[in-house]
Amino acid sequence: MLKEGLKKRDILKILDKKLSKDYRYSSGHILGSMCTAAHEFGREIYCKYVNKNLGDPGLFPGTAELEDEIIREIGELYNGKEIIGSFTTGGSEANLIAVRIAKELRPDINEPEMVLPISAHMSFDKSAELLGIKLRKTQLKDNFQLDKEHFKSLINENTCLVVGIAGTTSLGLVDPIQEIGRMIENKDIFFHVDAAFGGFVLPFLKDLGYKIPEWDFHVDQVDSITADPHKMGLNVIPSGGIFLRNKNIIQKTGFEIPYLAGGNFKHLHIVGTRPGGPVISFWALMKYLGMNGFKKILNKCMENTRYLCEGIKEIEGIRLATEPVMNIVGITTESGESICELDEELRKLHWMLGKFEDFNLIRIVIMPHITTSHLSKFIKDLENVVKKLGL
Ligand SMILES: Cc1ncc(COP(=O)(O)O)c(C=O)c1O
Repeated sequence: MLKEGLKKRDILKILDKKLSKDYRYSSGHILGSMCTAAHEFGREIYCKYVNKNLGDPGLFPGTAELEDEIIREIGELYNGKEIIGSFTTGGSEANLIAVRIAKELRPDINEPEMVLPISAHMSFDKSAELLGIKLRKTQLKDNFQLDKEHFKSLINENTCLVVGIAGTTSLGLVDPIQEIGRMIENKDIFFHVDAAFGGFVLPFLKDLGYKIPEWDFHVDQVDSITADPHKMGLNVIPSGGIFLRNKNIIQKTGFEIPYLAGGNFKHLHIVGTRPGGPVISFWALMKYLGMNGFKKILNKCMENTRYLCEGIKEIEGIRLATEPVMNIVGITTESGESICELDEELRKLHWMLGKFEDFNLIRIVIMPHITTSHLSKFIKDLENVVKKLGL
């Protein structure tokens, strides 16, 4: 550590230099991220309220009220009534909270298990390891849809949790949530839906007239949902969310910290100190954009998704892994040859995509920072690389 501090001006210069290595959303090169540049208004609000700490809500009751209000409002967007829950650091923490609740609710099971699709996010593997739960992974069919018979066959007397995905990480597909619900009807099994990405896509797509299967609290058996404002909610990082149907869950399964300056309260979080800024910024963003604002942004992403798909269909040697349901596009090779080299070559040209080796696909998430002009350049490069590799 320096003995004497530097001048602010000099520090800014050093930072500018060091951070010039980072990729910028505005370059269009970030094609494989589920995050994007935070909305300008949200950023402004976040900076104003950066000191709010929801780890001690008794000291910040105004912020805590805004959180309850926004959780209820988002819960209504998911067809729930008086939904409870809270903001988290992201989808991973929200999923971990859901897995823990499911385990806590079934103390009678000695060797608890969860049944989930193989397409589920890694956060479930992490949760299973941390909580000592066995993972029972369901295979997918050739078209990447869940193999329902296999899923059902894995449910047994040790199952404390079933998981469905509404917007898979790899392809943005929606699992058959209603059918999973029917599989556990009248069974004491917790049902969690991971809509970390889809949570701020599906309600708007539905309103835009897209045919969307039921995936939320409309399905009676769904107990909880993960949905992340820092993905398609365009909010600042970190902001995920866990939404719960049963009001008594916090009392039943929450932790209590005895020493807080603001007084005791029960909570489900893994973290203690917790930023209030992202809650306030998302509250403001929802008020500012409204349903129509979010729909407009998503509509543009879907237009760009179609544009990219048309481009991919014109290139011999590669194809769409599946028709996109939302603004996520998977590319695979026509011959079944590995996509690894294609990914590597595109990376050399600074196109940063997501690679899913298990499914042999590379993934593009058409976030709001990606324009038609970025995609047009990408399609040209993609075509050249495919030719060069002789795919
Ligand atoms: C479906 C799904 N769930 C959970 C997560 C984890 O979210 P986070 O990175 O915010 O922890 C992701 C991240 O991509 C995701 O796609």
